[in-house]
Amino acid sequence: MTRPASRLAIAVLASGRGSNLQALINAVAAGTLDARIVGVFSDKPGAIALERAQDAGIPTTVLLPATYATRAAFDAQLFEAIDPCTPDVILCAGYMRLIGKREVQGRRGRLLNIHPSLLPAFKGLRTHAQALAAGASEHGASVHYVTPDLDGGPVIAQVRVPVLAQDDADTLARRVLVREHILLVETVRLLAAGRLALNGDVIRLDGAAISTPLQLTANNDFS
Ligand code: GAR
Repeated sequence: MTRPASRLAIAVLASGRGSNLQALINAVAAGTLDARIVGVFSDKPGAIALERAQDAGIPTTVLLPATYATRAAFDAQLFEAIDPCTPDVILCAGYMRLIGKREVQGRRGRLLNIHPSLLPAFKGLRTHAQALAAGASEHGASVHYVTPDLDGGPVIAQVRVPVLAQDDADTLARRVLVREHILLVETVRLLAAGRLALNGDVIRLDGAAISTPLQLTANNDFS
């Protein structure tokens, strides 16, 4: 993706708490992230993410899946609402619904997701419990391009968090969440600067292919 002509326009999809959305809102408001959030879209009318958006003056849209005959019909309507906002990037930040193949394929390289695991490990739900059950010594979060495969698209960047002996799923989730907020903001910063591109399945940073995901360091930059 080349640097957008104006500030990177982001549409955010969120189903719940919206703390990742809030991290973006805060970075934009602080002037440390050269982007604008053009809309927040949700499948859950009670999502706290919607309140966060409204507090920040961001337009919100809610669509109720149960009122559509099929998932495809819901998705079509969702993107009919999103597309007029002309986002450069559509970001799933705690959006807990699968997006159909047709909508994903038409937006390759513009649709991203943040997932709370070191992909390809622990796809799907309850990732923190999955990591503990597997005896993992490390856990974390990943930002990836969305493809039709669940949590399966090319991974741009990750943050690693050690698993502690006394961790349960909640304590681990809390420590990962703090770091995933930073991971998300730093990854969006690369997008806003036009430094990332997806060619086929190959991610390029500043034009050079990256063979492994970028890793967020303790200094909050990438190695
Ligand atoms: C985050 O941990 C995000 O990575 C995860 O849901 C949480 C949403 O938190 N996403 C997924 O599990 C998607 N498969 P938030 O609503 O506070 O940003």
